[in-house]
Amino acid sequence: MSVTEKFLSMDYGPAPEDPREALVWLDRHARKLGHFIGGTFRPPADGVYFDTLDPSTGEPLAAVAQGSVADIDAAVKAARGALAEWQSLTPHARARYLYALARQVQKHSRRLAVLETMDNGKPIRESRDLDIPLVARHFYHHAGWAQLLPQEFPGYVACGVVGQIIPWNFPLLMLAWKIAPAMATGNTVVLKPAEFTPLTALAFAEICQEVGLPAGVVNIVTGDGSTGEALVKHPDVDKIAFTGSTEVGRAIRKATAQSHKKISLELGGKSPFIIFEDADLDSAVEGLVDGIWLNQGQVCCAGSRLLMQESVAETLLGKVRERMSTLRVGPPLDKAIDIGAIVARVQLERIQRLVAQGVAEGATCWQPPSLAMPSRGLFFPPTLLSNVHPTSTVAQQEIFGPVLAAMTFRTPREAVELANNTVYGLAASVWSESINVALHVAAQLKAGVVWVNSTNLFDAASGFGGYKESGYGREGGREGLFEYLEPDWFKRAPRLETKPAAMDQPPEQGISTAAPPIDRTVKLYIGGKQARPDSGYSLEVHAADGRLLGEAPLGNRKDIRNAVEAARKADSWAKTTAHNRAQVLYYIAENLSQRGEEIAGRLAAVVGKKQASAEVQSGIERVFSYAAWADKYDGAVHNPPFRNIALAMLEPVGTVGIICPVDMPLLGLLSLVMPAIAMGNTVIAIPSETYPLIIGDLYQVFETSDLPGGVVNLVSGRSSELLKVLAEHDDIDAIWSFAGEASSAAAKSLSVGNLKQVFSNEGRAIDWFSTEQGEGRWFLHHATQVKNIWVPYGE
Ligand code: NAI
Repeated sequence: MSVTEKFLSMDYGPAPEDPREALVWLDRHARKLGHFIGGTFRPPADGVYFDTLDPSTGEPLAAVAQGSVADIDAAVKAARGALAEWQSLTPHARARYLYALARQVQKHSRRLAVLETMDNGKPIRESRDLDIPLVARHFYHHAGWAQLLPQEFPGYVACGVVGQIIPWNFPLLMLAWKIAPAMATGNTVVLKPAEFTPLTALAFAEICQEVGLPAGVVNIVTGDGSTGEALVKHPDVDKIAFTGSTEVGRAIRKATAQSHKKISLELGGKSPFIIFEDADLDSAVEGLVDGIWLNQGQVCCAGSRLLMQESVAETLLGKVRERMSTLRVGPPLDKAIDIGAIVARVQLERIQRLVAQGVAEGATCWQPPSLAMPSRGLFFPPTLLSNVHPTSTVAQQEIFGPVLAAMTFRTPREAVELANNTVYGLAASVWSESINVALHVAAQLKAGVVWVNSTNLFDAASGFGGYKESGYGREGGREGLFEYLEPDWFKRAPRLETKPAAMDQPPEQGISTAAPPIDRTVKLYIGGKQARPDSGYSLEVHAADGRLLGEAPLGNRKDIRNAVEAARKADSWAKTTAHNRAQVLYYIAENLSQRGEEIAGRLAAVVGKKQASAEVQSGIERVFSYAAWADKYDGAVHNPPFRNIALAMLEPVGTVGIICPVDMPLLGLLSLVMPAIAMGNTVIAIPSETYPLIIGDLYQVFETSDLPGGVVNLVSGRSSELLKVLAEHDDIDAIWSFAGEASSAAAKSLSVGNLKQVFSNEGRAIDWFSTEQGEGRWFLHHATQVKNIWVPYGE
């Protein structure tokens, strides 16, 4: 037998990582850990603990505290108490704490990796080489942001006390993704780790003590979903950041709808792994191993749907099976293990149930026949489901296990259709040797991250997060920091006093109601055409003095549906060049300027002469401003520490429903519609009930400005009724609600269904005349979402 033959036939013996240091750490805490609140570990208020287990053996590792409402309250108080001191530090001082945390994580990296593997079941190779180094990288990167914050985010301030809830799949890494940006931006934190994997968060708490972090800046409360719920509902929390299941994400949206808590959600995924016939198939298969079998497939961005071009499907499946046969399943502390334990029995059962369902729905299940499986612990073999129908359960639902569902496609177009045929939009991998094919497809995928000829690459400088029901908000990069910041003026803005709409007001006493003849009747504006309302009814619009000014259509559900359809049909607006969009906006400004006097004349009857002419004047400037931004607010190129670049493309959110401000019928509408369309979105706007006749003025302007039909649709009516239809409509991607407190709460709670993004004034007054408040990056940020496309680059 030659040396090579001997090597190839070699049966690897076990190579266990030494767990001693982690065990010593657990023993030092007498295998019983309390919450970390106000800088010290303390027992739970009601004395209840639960065991956290090693899923590879089933043995308990330690008892940890079950957080109650009282514990959450104590932690929130500690975080609130620490806020002033933390914010009074210089950016440099805060940066030094983050830097110290990064250094200390590196120092304890082996212990942390072992603890993570014991608590979670993931192979030590992964926790050692991926999780913990990325944790350190995240703190280093954000130490930098802490230092640069005032220069890079002028006018922005921290949200305040932040509640963070994380899952069990990357316990310490998710902690880092949450805590580092929150601290860097001057927030204080209460974090709840997942009940299956609390240990590394508590080890991190000790690291906070070691670096002398001021007490209360970071608080860790352990417990299950009920502890998370208490945190979400606590009235003194300013922001909730969550990673986990879409179901709990929805519950959080619902629970916070009546509050002003800012939220970010990183939810599930069903990410496509697309392989074209011209791909380097062997590299693609290696990528696939990482894509679906990393962390036993318990990865939100796992490449769980394999889409293969039909011509290479059989060859590819052969290679996949061959490679699967070499995977080793076993004790995760063994350095030669590829697939470790499933985190908990409930998760294992869920995987088993879904695979059985896949087979019942017609899939063919293949598992390596001679695979050695451990005799105890929670393990599931690597599994390939082929002949999967694109609509079947295993092609649509997140399995969160080592299970790959394979399908075929014929053309790039079909690949894109299949890839986007899910409620999720977290990540995607595209494999092709043709740069044209790969980038053409990447541009069409609805996903927050696209890896070209690569997979599962993460870096602190590149934002991570989803489209559609995969959540919203990004973690990492500049965009991730926005989740923990708010404009200073907005935080301090007074409550909006909303007057009842003019048309609902009875004519005032003493004012003549001798009505002049109705001078105006306008229509809806849908798909670039004037349209009669489906209801056949109109609303009377009165002047401030009670005079009848005209009639505006009473739009209903059907009109909104037509408007959404028209907006969707106009989606090529997103592909129009930014230069062209700018030209259209300039043209709108020009036409507005030409009609300015007559528009102001009519508007004056409702808002007074002075405001009317100011609205027109500022409105023209605002449109100009967004024409200017259209080709300037764009993405970035990141240089992550790999042989790649990450192209951070800014894409429109999609179709946006806008509830316009009540008191500023023209300027308010333009201040919201213009940034949305400047960035390529299409819009359905509900004008102020005070003066819905503005539709008539605007469609004349739009019709003469080369604005393609359907890009802006204007539907007047009772805004609360129309808001409900918009918020519940599954084909709308975001709601911008700027009418008042009640409308903002309604927008949030009614749009839970497809987890639309909601951008609102939170019932606060905005000075639309001010350029600081009424225009700029804050609006543009909400009009776009970042797609990070990772492209191989360099030697
Ligand atoms: P989960 O969403 O229930 O748990 C995530 C975190 O939320 C945990 O810390 C949990 O204690 C907390 N939580 C649970 N209910 C809560 C509530 N009502 N309010 C506030 N916090 C609450 O996820 P689970 O049950 O552990 O896993 C179920 C499925 O979710 C998995 O099979 C997988 O499909 C998906 N999942 C997705 C993750 C992702 O990163 N996208 C991570 C974990 C799970």
